[in-house]
Amino acid sequence: MSYQSIQQLLKTSPVGTTVTVKGWVRTKRESKNATFIALNDGSTINTIQAVAERGPAEAGLLPEETLKLITTGACVAITGQLVESQGAGQSVEIKLESVHIYGPADPDKYPLQPKRHSLEFLREIAHLRPRTNTFSAILRIRHALAFAVHKYFNDNGFYYLHTPIITASDAEGAGEMFRVTTLSATKPPLTEEGKVDYSQDFFGRETNLTVSGQLEGELGALALGKVYTFGPTFRAENSNTTRHLAEFWMIEPEMAFYELEDNMNLAEDFVKTVIRYALQHCEDDLTFLDNRLKEEEKSKKKEEQSDLSLLEKLQFVISNEFVRLTYTDAIDILANSKPAKKKQFQYEVSWGVDLQSEHERYLVEKHFKKPVILTNYPRDIKAFYMKQDDAPATNERGETFGQTVRAMDVLFPGIGEIIGGSQREDDLDKLTTRMQEVGIDPEALWWYLDTRRFGSAPHAGFGLGFERLVLFVTGMGNIRDVIPFPRAPKQAEF
Ligand code: 4AD
Ligand code: MG
Repeated sequence: MSYQSIQQLLKTSPVGTTVTVKGWVRTKRESKNATFIALNDGSTINTIQAVAERGPAEAGLLPEETLKLITTGACVAITGQLVESQGAGQSVEIKLESVHIYGPADPDKYPLQPKRHSLEFLREIAHLRPRTNTFSAILRIRHALAFAVHKYFNDNGFYYLHTPIITASDAEGAGEMFRVTTLSATKPPLTEEGKVDYSQDFFGRETNLTVSGQLEGELGALALGKVYTFGPTFRAENSNTTRHLAEFWMIEPEMAFYELEDNMNLAEDFVKTVIRYALQHCEDDLTFLDNRLKEEEKSKKKEEQSDLSLLEKLQFVISNEFVRLTYTDAIDILANSKPAKKKQFQYEVSWGVDLQSEHERYLVEKHFKKPVILTNYPRDIKAFYMKQDDAPATNERGETFGQTVRAMDVLFPGIGEIIGGSQREDDLDKLTTRMQEVGIDPEALWWYLDTRRFGSAPHAGFGLGFERLVLFVTGMGNIRDVIPFPRAPKQAEF
């Protein structure tokens, strides 16, 4: 049976023709003379209304037993003439002539009732939540953003490089990895010293799920020029926050001959372009989420309400230049800020500390009121591969601090860090020394160091957490609500 998507049908509105749509019943309303069915097929946030006249079966109308099966959640195909709608709320509707019920849904047991459910409840039924307006909107926007990412890089001369998911190295050196093994969990083979003998494991060595495709990305950049990865990334950090997942998707461009400044320019242009794409291609879904957020804001205290609506916030970000400043200058601002003086920060700030999200958000939301790119962080709080600056940091007053690296973090309102990246250390000696200092065996990464041995070049790259981008664009508050099936501590049901 041929059928049309509701999105297509509403766009073309072929009034007077007979059409078939297939989808899931959102609501059913009955009056004395007619039954009104709102049908959604996931192609759009909008539903189409089908109207079934009630009356005797002899008059060619649907028997009451069939109408009874059309309940919220049921999957049906509806055929009828498309007509101008009599009622308010829709311009066209289907005059129901026949219906096929693919799958009924017992209305007493179906968990999604036609009312607003809490996000917490919906997380417990993640297998069904894509059938709600909010989640289907998020998933369509997520798709559009993923497509925009590939389009951006393709349009700009980058090659998509598929980096491995199973690796033997820890790219970030943070040790937050999930082990991959086929050894027995209860009786693994042991070495003479009593340790697990990984030489007998599947890969003949210890392997993990990757925390980043960067190291392999660098190999690609130093051959193809400009590459990017876009794949699943895994971190076993036990952080139960609204910004962290154990499995998330990361986009990592890596470019030969780019220095820190070029890297910042690319990052800014890239995020603005993909956000603009979503604004242009997801109007209905973004408007729905914008209204949803406005409703939510109303229930907040006045001082906690945000000045900008979701759509205004997205427009604001694409039409303003990001602020760029060094870590050292940021520390100056933070140390002299009101919350620091009033001891309102949970973590103290001084040169050398890693910034907490409360500090990042103060800079972005209170001080600059714009996205911020922070650069030149202390070497000791960043990964081993970052290029070292020529001289230690100094501030405006001439005070000197420690060694810094050419790092950059892009900080967004409501999110904190959305991008982390750097220029890479291309000097073999400096890189090897740094690895030894932080306890990474240069022998184990011999292949990585080979790029510095043979034809080394200045290069740079960054990583964008895809879910943090989706979080920002959808205005949602919890990262677990912008990925279909979230993986977080104690959460891997679906
Ligand atoms: O800052 P990170 O750790 O940087 C890297 O992994 C580099 N290798 C990237 C590169 O230069 N190629 O992670 C990059 C981004 C963060 O800014 C954040 O947006 C996201 O990845 N991210 C997470 N997103 C969700 N859940 C987590 N647990 C995340 N950890 C990092
Ligand atoms: Mg980072």
